[in-house]
Amino acid sequence: MISYSEYLQVAESAARIAGQYQKSRFASTLNIEMKGDKNLVTEVDKESERLIVEHLLSHFPGHNIIAEEGQYLQSGSNCRWIIDPLDGTTNYAHGYPWFCVSIALERQGDLVAGVIYNPVYDELFTATKGGGAYLNGNSLSVSTQAPLKNSLLGTGFPYDCATDPANNFSSFIAFQKSARGIRRAGAAALDLAYVAAGRLDGFWELKLKAWDVAAGVLMVREAGGMLTTFDGSFYDIFNDKIVASNGLIHDEMINMLSSVDYVTLDP
Ligand code: IPD
Ligand code: CA
Ligand code: CA
Repeated sequence: MISYSEYLQVAESAARIAGQYQKSRFASTLNIEMKGDKNLVTEVDKESERLIVEHLLSHFPGHNIIAEEGQYLQSGSNCRWIIDPLDGTTNYAHGYPWFCVSIALERQGDLVAGVIYNPVYDELFTATKGGGAYLNGNSLSVSTQAPLKNSLLGTGFPYDCATDPANNFSSFIAFQKSARGIRRAGAAALDLAYVAAGRLDGFWELKLKAWDVAAGVLMVREAGGMLTTFDGSFYDIFNDKIVASNGLIHDEMINMLSSVDYVTLDP
């Protein structure tokens, strides 16, 4: 049986291949298409996905794949790779250097390996089930910061926030008043890696997809953090509401999210 760390090594090299490619194309002229009103996709997203899938399948032919830009393979395998080839596309397309590659492996429905790679900082976040979380090989743990009023949080807004009232605006205002600060950096996978690394104390967001969160969820878990939905109940990566924290501020975050209606009309 292949060990989790053997899977991880292959995921790491796939992330580095795609990350180096992204860095080499950064701030160059890009072919950009619209997936929705605000949602972009560039040729670099698509080519990154192709490079990652090619690398993974060259080591593990027959594995299943779900990837944001459309690669989908479903066979009899009990292993499934969940891939966001470029998280932070809006940043990337605008020449704002904040983006990453995110790759996770599920085996028998369990998240067992995850990699998030920021090629600009050359920071490789990794985790395996039961094996801990690491940044460039150094062990990670969540912060010990509490209470909420002393905490730094991350969040984001869905692409359809101008048209769907489930837009996170009211929660954002409430947390901005009660926490020390909020960052909307534009790459959810890095937000989760930052919670695992203790650089953010908490994170919440609506309508993320499995590829945005899969690797980061394993990382937060392995770094000793807590993950739930907005009402404090069990979270899985196909749920569209996520709260991740150092554990110490989790109840305060859940209380805040339940006291505020996250579905708002424009304030
Ligand atoms: C997006 C980013 C962003 C989050 C969006 C995601 P993409 O992913 O993670 O931070 O707020 O909801 O869709 O489109 O850049 O891969
Ligand atoms: Ca994403
Ligand atoms: Ca993406």
